[in-house]
Amino acid sequence: MTEIVTATPKGLYLETFGCQMNVSDSEKIVSLMSELGYRRVTDPALADLILLNTCSVRAKAESKVYDYLGRLRLRKLKNSRLIIGVGGCVAQQEGERLLKRVPYLDLVFGTHTLHLLPDLVLAAQRGERRSSTDFIETETRLNLFPQAADTGELTRFVTIMQGCDNFCTYCIVPYVRGREISRRSGEILGEIREMVGRGAREITLLGQNVNSYGVKSPGELHFADLLREIAAMAGIERLRFTTSHPRDISPELIACFADLPKLCGHLHLPAQSGSDAILDRMNRGYSRTEYLATVAALRRARPALAVTGDIIVGFPGESEVDFQETLSLLDEVRYVDLFSFVYSERPETAAAGFPDHLSRGVKQQRLERLQLRQREITQEICHGLVGTVQRVLLEGVSRRGDQLTGRTDANRIVNVAGDPGLIGQVVDVVISSSHPNSLLGELL
Ligand code: 5AD
Ligand code: SF4
Repeated sequence: MTEIVTATPKGLYLETFGCQMNVSDSEKIVSLMSELGYRRVTDPALADLILLNTCSVRAKAESKVYDYLGRLRLRKLKNSRLIIGVGGCVAQQEGERLLKRVPYLDLVFGTHTLHLLPDLVLAAQRGERRSSTDFIETETRLNLFPQAADTGELTRFVTIMQGCDNFCTYCIVPYVRGREISRRSGEILGEIREMVGRGAREITLLGQNVNSYGVKSPGELHFADLLREIAAMAGIERLRFTTSHPRDISPELIACFADLPKLCGHLHLPAQSGSDAILDRMNRGYSRTEYLATVAALRRARPALAVTGDIIVGFPGESEVDFQETLSLLDEVRYVDLFSFVYSERPETAAAGFPDHLSRGVKQQRLERLQLRQREITQEICHGLVGTVQRVLLEGVSRRGDQLTGRTDANRIVNVAGDPGLIGQVVDVVISSSHPNSLLGELL
């Protein structure tokens, strides 16, 4: 009789910081490490390998990583065989320096070198400390896009492009994610087809600037064509994408909102500021008037379009008048939700060298004024939904466990009483009340 020897799987504890791109890279990390015999655990005490997938978009995100690493020191002291690694944007930015700064760190991998992680872990098992953060700007990178894991979930994210060539003057992304590159459309369509085959009903296309998909690749589909191809697939109920650069919203893309019912009525369209002077110094490539004209054209194509945005307050040199223009932009656009941030100085970026950095107090006070105004607008819009019928994709059981939960076409969370057998279906729901972060409804 042959004896089957199964090695006990090793524990991988993975902490993901930052954006959806990192979440998607983390899926890839889990599948790569499973090939080395690591299985994901939810308790760091059970881990043989702890990996942090990090974000450096603002200084706060970066310092969280160092705090976290600080807390891991004791674990390493107690268990010298524990391997600790850092990847993602902080790793890309710091590289080798991280190994010097954190003596108990074993390995560092960058945003282009996920595929080298197994080698780095094997080296760490032999006691070697390594960092690998080179950018890959060749064709090879096309083969390194994260592939989705076989999770069979209803809502899935698909990376279609990576990197950014825009160099907004505040932003570290071009330095830590590298040049823009679009994945082959054939692969994207193939992956989506497989996901739909395994039960996915909603697909969100991901990239730093999805609107410029294919522009740099001769013969490749452009973004609007890609959307049309995906919307034509049987089995897909809903299609979303993020993030968009306002300058790159083409007439063809606007037409998609008119023509494709599966394309959800929600667009995340970061303005960053409502002041022309600031937009110019941010190198955003559009004026306030152009931004508003784009929103108006989108709403002509899709009248109920829900717009969300990002705003940075306290950019160097932002005057009270500039800030007032941002406040009034909120009133004109009427964002259903807004992600707002205090300007954070980032290494290598052009704005770090600009004059007239504002005090922390002024920046914080502006952020609070902006958020107060936005809360009112969000509430007004959500109260306005009470009594309306919304199409909701039921995604699961609510956190409290007594209701079903899903999202409207415009991406608002809705809780509703109903049979769990309905999960996975798109149902009509009458909205009965609105709460700060969700809506309550009844099945029609
Ligand atoms: N400071 C503050 N916010 C920033 N963002 C990007 N860089 C910075 C920075 N240096 C914000 C932008 C972007 C979002 C992802 O993060 O609003 O759209
Ligand atoms: Fe950063 Fe601007 Fe690129 Fe967005 S478009 S990732 S803000 S540089």
